Amino acid sequence: MRKKTIVFNWKMKPETVGEAWRIMKAVVAAGRKARGDIVVAPPFVYVAEMARMAKGSGVEIAGQNCFTVGAGAFTGEVSPTMLKDVGAEYALIGHSERRALGEDDKFINKKVKAAIEAGLKVILAVGEKKKESVREAVKAAGGQVRQGLAGVAKENYKKVILAYEPVWAISTSRGAKEAEPEYAGKVMTELGRRGMPVLYGGSVTAENVGDYMPLADGVLVGGASLKVEALQKIINSL
Ligand code: PGA
Repeated sequence: MRKKTIVFNWKMKPETVGEAWRIMKAVVAAGRKARGDIVVAPPFVYVAEMARMAKGSGVEIAGQNCFTVGAGAFTGEVSPTMLKDVGAEYALIGHSERRALGEDDKFINKKVKAAIEAGLKVILAVGEKKKESVREAVKAAGGQVRQGLAGVAKENYKKVILAYEPVWAISTSRGAKEAEPEYAGKVMTELGRRGMPVLYGGSVTAENVGDYMPLADGVLVGGASLKVEALQKIINSL
């Protein structure tokens, strides 16, 4: 069986580096004994520090985003080359909260290519905006996968993990509730046909993680990744 992966996406939290240390310490302690791969995606300003803390523990670090080129006159952006240099192994690309800020599939595709070029692995997030049918969801999310990976050489597919996150199931979108495992499972089976691992994301908690683990190659966790007890339970669910 394929090794499972848990990605903890901290989003724009926690508010202090002191709090980031506290959470990271717990991840590292639980991560050392984990039966799968653990990846933490902290805000950019904490990446170098968190990578130092995680060194040697097996826990890996992801940027929550990256720019489309290695260096240049792009004020406010962070390049994949920089992420790699300070110890990140992954870039999370195409998260729905980035798409909501205007990132389209073409832009996301450039980021995917730049990240791979810089030696990072990619977590490509996809998902339908509204709940319709499994068929519609596969069409929307599958289209994002196709466009996100356009022009990426097949041999690089092994550097890509897909995160299926139905946008309506992400806790930050108002009134969200996790997708029914059966529904998510069907969509993920289709998305997995290209051979890449598929994670489930959207309102994963310590309580419901057990519903998704058997259906997916792992989970992408937002809100619950900042709560020590919850993240420990999620890691132990592997
Ligand atoms: P959530 O976020 O677990 O808070 O729903 C998932 C995500 O990062 O998309």
